[in-house]
Amino acid sequence: GAAQPVIVAIDGPSGTGKSSTSKAVAAQLGLSYLDTGAQYRAITWWMVTNGIDIDDPSAIAAVAGKPEIVSGTDPNAPTITVDGTDVSAPIRTQEVTSKVSAVSAVPEVRARITELQRSIAAGAEHGIVVEGRDIGTTVLPDADLKIFLTASPEARAARRSGELKGADLHSTREALLKRDAADSSRKTSPLAKADDAVEVDTTDLTLAQVIECVVTLVEEKRAGK
Ligand code: DC
Repeated sequence: GAAQPVIVAIDGPSGTGKSSTSKAVAAQLGLSYLDTGAQYRAITWWMVTNGIDIDDPSAIAAVAGKPEIVSGTDPNAPTITVDGTDVSAPIRTQEVTSKVSAVSAVPEVRARITELQRSIAAGAEHGIVVEGRDIGTTVLPDADLKIFLTASPEARAARRSGELKGADLHSTREALLKRDAADSSRKTSPLAKADDAVEVDTTDLTLAQVIECVVTLVEEKRAGK
C-alpha cells in the first residue's frame, strides 16, 4: 500500500545548512516542508511594523494572537504571508533578524506558533520535513526521525556571511553567536537536541553529503530498520 506519512524534525542553530538540507530532502522524497524560523520572523515583522515595543514581553504577549500567518509547504516554492501580505523578503532583513530572538522567547508567541505548526504537520498527506530549534523536543516529540545539525562557529559564520553577500565575517559571527546563545538559554522550549535525535556535524561535509545522509536516514526509517 501507500507509504505512511513520515514526520521528520530537523533542528539546530543557524548556519548549519538546516534550510537548504530540509528543503532538498523534502523535495527529493515528495514531502511537504515547513520553515518554522520563517514563522517566528513573520510574527516579529508584524510586531515591528505595528510599533509594538520589542523590549516589553507583556506588550508582545497581548497581541500575539492578532497576525494571521500562513505558510505554503511546497519545498520547491515555500511561501509565507501575514494577513495576506507576502513577507518572504522583509522577514530576512537585519532588523527582523536582530529582534526575532526576543519575540520568539515570549511564551504566548510560542504557544500560538506551536499550535499552527502541529496543525500543518498533521495535515501533510505524504509527510513533512519541519525545521527549527524545538521541533524534536517540543513541537513534534513523536516525529519518526529527529536530526540535530551542528557545525563549528567558524563554519557557521562563514556560511552565513556567504549568504549575506559582502557582510563582514567578524560581525556576522558575533551576531550569530549572540542569537544562538539567546535561543539556547530562553526558558520556553530553547534550542536543544532531543535525546533520540541523530546528531550530524556538518563542519566538514558538503551540502550534497548532508542531504544524502538525511535522505538515507529517512529511507531506513521507512524501511523499518
Ligand atoms: O531559522 P531562522 O534563523 O530563520 O530562525 C529565526 C529565529 O526564530 C531564531 O533565531 C529563533 C527562532 N526560532 C525558534 O525560536 N524556534 C523555532 N522552532 C525556529 C526558530
